[in-house]
Amino acid sequence: MDSRTMTVSDRMGVEEHRNWDDVDYSALLNGQAFPTNFMWGVATASHQIEGGNSNNWTRFEPTSKSGQESGIACDHWNRKEQDLDLIDDLNVTHYRFSLEWSRIEPEMGVWNEEAIAWYSDLVDRLLKRGIQPMVTLHHFTNPLWWEDLGAFEKEENIIYWIRFSSKMFECLSDRVTWWCTINEPAVYASMGYVLGEFPPGQRSFKKTRIVSLNLMRAHARCYRTLKSMENGADAQIGLVKNINLFDPYRRWNPLHRFQANLLDGMFNRCWIKGLKTGRFKPPSALRSIAVEGLKDSSDFIGVNYYTHLLATPFMPTKVEIDPLIRPWEERTDFRYPMYAEGLRRAFEMVAQLNIPIIVTENGVADDDDDMRPEHIRRHLHITSEAITDGFDIRGFYHWSLMDNFEWAEGYEQCFGLYHVDFETQERTLRTSGELYASIAKAHRMPQVVILAGGLGTRLGEKTEHMPKSLIEVGGKPILTHILDWVQGQGCNRVLVLTGHHGEQFDGFTHTGLDLAFVQETEQLGTGGALWNARDHLEDEFILLWGDDYHPIDYVPLVQSHRSKSSPLTMTVTTEHEVMNLQVEDGRLLKYSKEGDVPDDFNGYEAGTSVVNKSIVLEHGKDGAWSWENTIYPSLAKQIHVHLDATKFWDMGTPERLQKLEDFFNETRR
Ligand code: GAL
Repeated sequence: MDSRTMTVSDRMGVEEHRNWDDVDYSALLNGQAFPTNFMWGVATASHQIEGGNSNNWTRFEPTSKSGQESGIACDHWNRKEQDLDLIDDLNVTHYRFSLEWSRIEPEMGVWNEEAIAWYSDLVDRLLKRGIQPMVTLHHFTNPLWWEDLGAFEKEENIIYWIRFSSKMFECLSDRVTWWCTINEPAVYASMGYVLGEFPPGQRSFKKTRIVSLNLMRAHARCYRTLKSMENGADAQIGLVKNINLFDPYRRWNPLHRFQANLLDGMFNRCWIKGLKTGRFKPPSALRSIAVEGLKDSSDFIGVNYYTHLLATPFMPTKVEIDPLIRPWEERTDFRYPMYAEGLRRAFEMVAQLNIPIIVTENGVADDDDDMRPEHIRRHLHITSEAITDGFDIRGFYHWSLMDNFEWAEGYEQCFGLYHVDFETQERTLRTSGELYASIAKAHRMPQVVILAGGLGTRLGEKTEHMPKSLIEVGGKPILTHILDWVQGQGCNRVLVLTGHHGEQFDGFTHTGLDLAFVQETEQLGTGGALWNARDHLEDEFILLWGDDYHPIDYVPLVQSHRSKSSPLTMTVTTEHEVMNLQVEDGRLLKYSKEGDVPDDFNGYEAGTSVVNKSIVLEHGKDGAWSWENTIYPSLAKQIHVHLDATKFWDMGTPERLQKLEDFFNETRR
């Protein structure tokens, strides 16, 4: 067998190595590798990018391994909007960042309102762009006053971090759904207290045990506290665990196996078991301890995955010495190997928790970017495969958005999708960044286009000159209900075609969506409205009627559209009093909106379709015209039909409007 496709297995599991030359990556770029509601993200941490901090790290830096100081880092604190553009350009739907506690509470009990406002504003700006924030509450850094109290070395200090966490939850949870409690507790404990490479730079097994235990206590308390607060029930709160795999260098050598097993137990298993059982046995401790509230204290598990390490009893404890690798493996700039196969093993490890998995970090130190594109492809391929095999993986955050201060390594290790010139602060998109952006683009939910200009002429005097989509039903405009649904389906970009009374939409907003409006100077009908907005249409979009509420699942609709490569996929219900079309073999045969329909008509257009912009460009024309009466008949046989029996609600007449009102009042109860 070719050594590159070998799998070595024994009671420690399998160390698989693939022959990546044979892997077909085409699904990554044609949008077939991930579900459409998958979260596409990039990740950062406050101290690594903000600059100008004063915390346990800034104090430690002069004595750190690299001796480099974080200084102004990426100067992100002063370049918020510009950096948001960078995120936006990657086509991601989610952004993970951390809150710098030392800025927010620079002295015990003293809150820096300006800093809090900065983060709150960051959240608002993200949401305006349709990017969902994911907030990390602890990512390695501590305020100096808390460090001086002994940080996680003392159980009684936890209360201060919980106070900070609840304060920030109170400020942001009305807009932030995703929360990470602690980033990589095992890394914090082992780097700070075993290897001494992170502050406080100690080497003490006793302290490692105590700190580990207190990290778990802090996580559990944080989870319980936030969950009990307002918005807690709806928030998704989880621990972020770095899974570092340990494989015996020589599998036949019992000492290597013993060492790998020992390290795996201390670095990975004990933490996962703790979350699962509520009893935690800190690394090198002899017995486990019940931690209050720890069992089931995560709504999701964040997985940070970078590599595997080959274990012998004489492993280097200093990172200067190159770690062992397999002969066919390639070293990253960090000197450890690229080993994408291990991500699958990380999924297997955390899957026993039976909660959704999110890759909260994965990336590579690779300054010249000759490895990162392949690194991205391999790790996404493994993730996609695992999803197909049934793992509940919801998202993937690339580490990192841009080159930044890599802790003990200083600025030498470059993890960014953007290269940063630290002299000029210029950011440049790397080839790998382009790749990641195109993979995200191929998979994310299409833009949503809503035909919202039709007037409520038949609904009485009050609405005669009012777009129907703005009529309130169930306490808010029907358009808001539609947008709630759209957002819940994972869409984040919406274009509202407001018709010729567009000014009535002035001031209309919806948190969490990148919302744009296109107005018409005269009444153009549905087709004319789309033609008029052609410059704002993306290549593929979901088309909705602004006066219909059609709560269907978009994932199968969009996936079937993409897999059939048809220019238009229309949702059809066969459960309707009247019929307006004929379907055969999944294609539209005939369509007629008006009058009596032939007996062989067997379906009704339910209102949600996926459209390729090319149709608008090919069939569009100036003036007023009807989309459905023009496009459906002329494209009939090419139109793909997606059958879905979900009831749709329109408000064409006062009676139907009343029914919709009853429906919303019913569902609200
Ligand atoms: C993780 C850490 C990040 C980043 C990354 C790259 O352990 O959470 O902050 O430094 O490693 O090494």
